Amino acid sequence: MHIILLGPPGSGKGTQAQKITSEYGYVQLSTGDMLRAACNSGSKIGLELKAVMDGGNLVSDDIVVGIVEERIFQNDCAAGYMLDGFPRNKVQAKKLDAMLAVQNQQIDIVLRLLVDDDIVVRRIAGRRFHVKSGRSYHVEFNPPQIAGKDDLTGEPLTQRADDNEVIVQSRLNIYREQTEPLVKYYEEKGVLVSIDSFGTPDEIFTKIKTALDQ
Ligand code: AP5
Ligand code: MG
Repeated sequence: MHIILLGPPGSGKGTQAQKITSEYGYVQLSTGDMLRAACNSGSKIGLELKAVMDGGNLVSDDIVVGIVEERIFQNDCAAGYMLDGFPRNKVQAKKLDAMLAVQNQQIDIVLRLLVDDDIVVRRIAGRRFHVKSGRSYHVEFNPPQIAGKDDLTGEPLTQRADDNEVIVQSRLNIYREQTEPLVKYYEEKGVLVSIDSFGTPDEIFTKIKTALDQ
């Protein structure tokens, strides 16, 4: 099963990807996570990537496509994977189609997470991370046991540099302009399923399971 999770920042792609992995074993491939790992390497290119991402802008297509191409054909992806945050524009979508065609593969389903902008802004403003493990919390919707501390290690939680209200607005604008046209692109291929993503994570996951099990 080859899945794309398509949705604006804060729509719950990462949250639902983890649930899909637990239930079905498909590998989560988050380009955002992979790029953030590259930023933390401290290399010159890492610092350049960080400047682009902290400003809420898209990284160049060549870099992202290269990262994905290197990853999706690895052995652990053979049983299935979810692309979380890729593709983000038509150039990336076409390059993905081309690389899959070479291996006689295709995208089976695109799960489009539908949610309003005001909810997205609240979700993003309250998100907190434990850097080493990637565990994610929300100050209101999924709080840690002790405020500001990771449940397992007690280490401090941090906020992503692009998770503030000004940058979120610009990430949402970029989503509308560059990524949302992919809805039509995948609708025309007959693989798009829209998931109403307003409820709790478990309620949304129930709808996703129904779509995946059909
Ligand atoms: P990326 O990391 O992909 O960020 P994003 O798309 O902006 O999405 P987020 O990770 O912010 O949100 P999410 O949908 O995963 O929501 P989450 O589940 O965490 O990309 C970051 C940057 O990397 C980009 O800006 C760009 O620079 C670069 N990049 C990445 N891919 C690229 C590409 N293909 N091309 C070019 N550049 C690329 O949920 C958010 C919060 O809400 C959490 O706190 C969570 O606990 C909470 N929450 C989730 N669901 C619910 C719910 N149902 N109810 C209540 N709270 C909820
Ligand atoms: Mg995410």
